[in-house]
Amino acid sequence: MALEGVMRPGHAQIRVLELDAAVHFYRDVLGLVETGRDASGRVYFKCWDERDHHSIVLREAESAGIDFLGFKVRDDATLDRFEAKLAEAGIATTSLPAGDLLETGRRVRFTLPSGHEIELYATKTSVGNGMPMVNPAPWNEQSETGIAPVRFDHALLYGPNIADVKRIFVDILGFYLVERVLGPDGETETALWLSCGQKVHDIAFVEHPEPGKLHHCSFLMDSWEKVLRAGDIMSKNEISVDIGPTRHGITRGCTIYAWDPSGNRFETFQGGYYPYPDYETITWTWDAFPQGLDYPQRKLHESFLSIVT
Ligand SMILES: [Fe+2]
Repeated sequence: MALEGVMRPGHAQIRVLELDAAVHFYRDVLGLVETGRDASGRVYFKCWDERDHHSIVLREAESAGIDFLGFKVRDDATLDRFEAKLAEAGIATTSLPAGDLLETGRRVRFTLPSGHEIELYATKTSVGNGMPMVNPAPWNEQSETGIAPVRFDHALLYGPNIADVKRIFVDILGFYLVERVLGPDGETETALWLSCGQKVHDIAFVEHPEPGKLHHCSFLMDSWEKVLRAGDIMSKNEISVDIGPTRHGITRGCTIYAWDPSGNRFETFQGGYYPYPDYETITWTWDAFPQGLDYPQRKLHESFLSIVT
């Protein structure tokens, strides 16, 4: 499948309460690579195997949470096309100039009916993964520092009106619905897993009364052993763990959820499967949601449904 249109989630700006503690966590414990700081004090990171300048941006603030989630599109013409399609649909957009985020081109931002700020961009400086483009080794020392995930993979967001959110992602941005959870009435979609490529999800939503909430940002590990090693590193550093190690029924991902020092949940995961856009959506009924969340324990963890930032 050729990846056109939206390619992937490319960055998330996360609010943290104490910048120094957050930088220590994201750089030394999670093992991201610090790539820059800007005049407003934001700190930029990438995962070791990512090539673009950054995927996680930290901003010190009074409350934790997510400022915005950015998706990289194929090129400038694609960005212009999506900007026009959003306008046609009556969705107001704001254009942020190149350089507002370090090493990043123009961004087109809009607000979802769930209250989240989403942006599209076409260009960001490629800084590489520390290995040559000719005859590279499979890994380097950056892949052994801290938890060291391969990439920022997806985010799960909580907010209202996810039926309208689904229409924007499917009808305008070209995503498809991979899996969903139906509510107790057997009809209403209460959770959605959406993909723009062949990942089992690039973004997910859960219906929730408060707008604009972050459930977690997720980082891909390249083996189950690396997920278990991540759990060891979390415990050695006294990181608060929410769930896991375990496996989701939904998406089949093998996972640990934990919290950064500001209370933002993050996930280290591995696995899943590789859907195509023509695949029929997998449906989970409300009574099976416990297996969907935690397949071995069949447990609907209360914290998963209630704690967001
Ligand atoms: Fe996740």
